[in-house]
Amino acid sequence: MQEKLREAEQRLFWGMSLPDQRHVLNVAYTAIRLAAGKENLDVQLLVRCALLHDVGRQNGDVSTWDKIIAVLLHAAMPKAAMSWAKEGRGGKIDNVRHAVYIYFNHPKRSAIFLREIGTESDVIEIVSRHHKAPVKDEPPELALLRQADSLN
Ligand SMILES: [Fe+2]
Ligand SMILES: [Fe+2]
Repeated sequence: MQEKLREAEQRLFWGMSLPDQRHVLNVAYTAIRLAAGKENLDVQLLVRCALLHDVGRQNGDVSTWDKIIAVLLHAAMPKAAMSWAKEGRGGKIDNVRHAVYIYFNHPKRSAIFLREIGTESDVIEIVSRHHKAPVKDEPPELALLRQADSLN
């Protein structure tokens, strides 16, 4: 599956934690399954987006525990969590704030990392919008990626 990625993209892929690597692979397989029989879908693009959508979360950025706290904080008080988020690791509290920051901003970071290595713009656009609410006239691959993501 990872052979769909160029070398620099593979480095971002391998830079994710193992659970995240497993997650994006599962998203890719689910997306392929959901795409079956649908027309006007670029499956190659879809798979590339699936494999790369979460590379903004690199290994060591956020511990599993901090990630759990970030998810809980977001569920309990999304607005407060968003304004409390802060980039940059440091002490215990800083690391939790950083985890919340990554939770909200990983699509943007994925897009920045991919732009740096010259990934094509249609992948970057879809990746950067994968947690945004659907809008009219968006690429069908984006809707499918969201669906596959939520199933994994
Ligand atoms: Fe994501
Ligand atoms: Fe994801």
